[in-house]
Amino acid sequence: MSDTPKKFYLTTPIYYVNARPHIGHAYTTIVADVLARRHRLLGDDTFFLTGTDEHGQKIERSAAAAGIPPQQFADQVSKTFEDLWKRMGITNDDYIRTTDPKHAKGVQKLFATLYEKGFIELKAYTGTYCVSDEAFVDVPVGAPCPDCGRITEEVTEENFFFKLSAFQEKLLELIESNTLKIENDARRNEVLSFLRGTPPPEVNDVAVRIADSLPPIPEESLKQKLARIQEAANNHPDLVQLEKIGKIARTRSGEWYAPGALKDLSVSRSSFTWGIPVPEPAASAAKEKHVIYVWLDALANYMTAIGYGSDDPDEQKKFDHYWPADLHLVGKEIIRFHCVYWPAFLLAADLPLPKAITAHGWLLFDNSKMSKSKGNIVRTETILDAFGTLCPPTYTGAGLTGGSSGLQPTESAPSQKGALAPGFSAPTNSERDLFASDVLRYFLLREIPFGQDGSFSFDALITRYNADLANGYGNLVSRTLSMITKYREGVVPTATVSLHESRQPLWPFLETTNGAFELNNFYLALQNIWTFISITDVYVSTNAPWKLAADQTKSEDLDLVLYGAASAIRIITALLYPIMPFATAEVWQQLGLGDIEQAAKNGDLKNLQWGGLKPGTKLGPLSPIFPRADKSLAETMINMENPDSNPASPNLESSPRPETPLKSASTPTPAQPVTTDRLDPAAPPRNFTEATHVAGSAATTTHNGPTPSHTEATPSAPFNTPAAQAPGNAAPADASPQINIDDFIKIDLRVAQIVVAERIPKADKLLRLEVDLGYEKRQILSGIAEFYTPEELIGRRIVVIANLAPRKMRGLESHGMLLAASHGENGKPILATFGEDIALGSRLK
Ligand code: MSP
Repeated sequence: MSDTPKKFYLTTPIYYVNARPHIGHAYTTIVADVLARRHRLLGDDTFFLTGTDEHGQKIERSAAAAGIPPQQFADQVSKTFEDLWKRMGITNDDYIRTTDPKHAKGVQKLFATLYEKGFIELKAYTGTYCVSDEAFVDVPVGAPCPDCGRITEEVTEENFFFKLSAFQEKLLELIESNTLKIENDARRNEVLSFLRGTPPPEVNDVAVRIADSLPPIPEESLKQKLARIQEAANNHPDLVQLEKIGKIARTRSGEWYAPGALKDLSVSRSSFTWGIPVPEPAASAAKEKHVIYVWLDALANYMTAIGYGSDDPDEQKKFDHYWPADLHLVGKEIIRFHCVYWPAFLLAADLPLPKAITAHGWLLFDNSKMSKSKGNIVRTETILDAFGTLCPPTYTGAGLTGGSSGLQPTESAPSQKGALAPGFSAPTNSERDLFASDVLRYFLLREIPFGQDGSFSFDALITRYNADLANGYGNLVSRTLSMITKYREGVVPTATVSLHESRQPLWPFLETTNGAFELNNFYLALQNIWTFISITDVYVSTNAPWKLAADQTKSEDLDLVLYGAASAIRIITALLYPIMPFATAEVWQQLGLGDIEQAAKNGDLKNLQWGGLKPGTKLGPLSPIFPRADKSLAETMINMENPDSNPASPNLESSPRPETPLKSASTPTPAQPVTTDRLDPAAPPRNFTEATHVAGSAATTTHNGPTPSHTEATPSAPFNTPAAQAPGNAAPADASPQINIDDFIKIDLRVAQIVVAERIPKADKLLRLEVDLGYEKRQILSGIAEFYTPEELIGRRIVVIANLAPRKMRGLESHGMLLAASHGENGKPILATFGEDIALGSRLK
């Protein structure tokens, strides 16, 4: 047997950068991270890729609406994804962006290969196009897109076409034989029926006749009947005749399909420019300049990220090592792109196909798919910020002098109310994020059977957290470990393994749990684990260690019960590690087993053995794992998502995130013996998020946020904002005095268009602007010359504070002020703008 580890190359879809991430995106990334962690702990040579999809008309239009160049737009939004994954502790090995030059090179190589091999050719085409999906669709022009429901447009283009039609039979055979595995069956059938197409009417007539001619069999199931029809059809002379004239065909496995149902695919666009140019020699054959179809561009990321198209021998080696992908994880709506187009491109280029594609369902909010266009998204940051407040203090040993690491806050020795126990420190922001990320990971994988759609609600999140994590796993850990501390001085006792084994139904449990993980059935795996947690809980309760401890003759029994419970916790924790890496790391430490990441690397989390917990192991310092969440946390999160719905809710758009916990309405209430008094009540309130205004779309992230500012021109201090006064240190929103609605109404904010923009001699920071308010034109001097060129500004729709009294600067009148956010360390102004058409002079209120 070879010692070479099995390789496992896993990908997520790359996310469009037209919108900031929401928990739907996080769901995909979380599932991938769970898989990657599990494969790593099994010893597989794992490579996990994610990234962003940055080309295409959709992005070009979003950038134009935001009034910035597409690259800048893509940079900003891609960063919000990457930053979020870092906050959540996602362990991707690379982050591909389709605007990376190395990606463009690989895509051009793939296109050129397909062209040279004769699978891409130039043709004129007029069709109905869905800009949002970047695809020609089969509906009348102006009708809603069958996939996303948005209104379609007519597009006529001389385009490069990929001969997708040549791959119908081959793809059918690969999928029917499971050489290309599509999980689950519903998705596989969906792809197969798309590939098989609808047979012509004469074939249907014969099929109906065959079905009618079969003698009825009582109590036959529909499946059995279909099998009988299929069998009868296989040799039916009428169908064989239609087969001879090419109206119908059969794959090698005998399944019927309609030849020609798979149409060629347009793989270039000349109506916009934001994409990777079609390379030579194809480029010279076309009249217009073409960019490569965004799906061909995007799908190729799976290869370009690991070296396809590179001249570097190390990169080439990497490609040979990791390609083909072992698993493409995708959302169910993009299954056709991955199971039809992508394998066809690869077949045409003579490249190996991915081994499997698996699709998950959608996260629904208010019963429909969470998406930007529907406006029903939930941001992951909300959950991180809100649940992060529950993160218990962590043991750092700080403030302890020699040999005191055994000091453990326990049930019997609670620390003074409100104070942190010796050696414990308030969690850092990163620890809070990872704690909350674990909660979300657990919830999504436990609540939604993989492959199906599932509803998200804040109430359900809190209920599950309290029931399963605080009262379930967390409580079992805390009560067991505090009893070991109390009755056995914090040392795992010795127990006869065989005796214990006979009392625990461990092996079938392990087998079914591992089997569920193998099938990506996280729901079942977690259900099993929680059954085991309950069994262990009942085992502890019925054996009542506190009674055994009171009876000196029962000392061995007490050892056995405590050892059994601690052993079970070790196994449960090892199994849970890929799902909740942060919480399980805490438990592992408390069990005295050290660093769980190291244990995963050493292979200690696989092949779990009952006696794996060594008697004599000294427990680590104890602290709560999952403090109870107050129901009011749901309201807090709802307010965070809809700041307008509650005027008293925290200002999300402008508050920084200090390294101190928020004392929210959801102050943790202890659920576990050791959970009391661990939060620092003296800690100042923590605001939830700070904002980065992403390209005018008011996207929020929790990093380096600006404070909205007005760009009034004052020659010496152009941006008279808190950010300008203290670079990189935006003032928290709650530092501003509160105003009431009457105050706000006094400010006349209007939509205006910049019609003239020019520099003012000898005033480096000032621009002279003429703006059209619809009802009048005016001059405004604005201190934005260091950040915007006049050319960039002309034509832009902006927001003006129209009723500001005129003033003179440098001898010129300035009447009004522009509205902008101040971004980053040097307070760069980002002008407020609009993503949709809006009449000049419209009032903002
Ligand atoms: N850019 C393409 C993918 C190209 S891959 C070569 C794309 N991007 S996307 O941002 O619109 O969606 C990417 C993925 O995000 C979806 O496939 C899905 O995995 C995930 N989700 C987006 N919204 C979602 C929900 N509401 N629920 C669950 N997953 C969701 O398609």
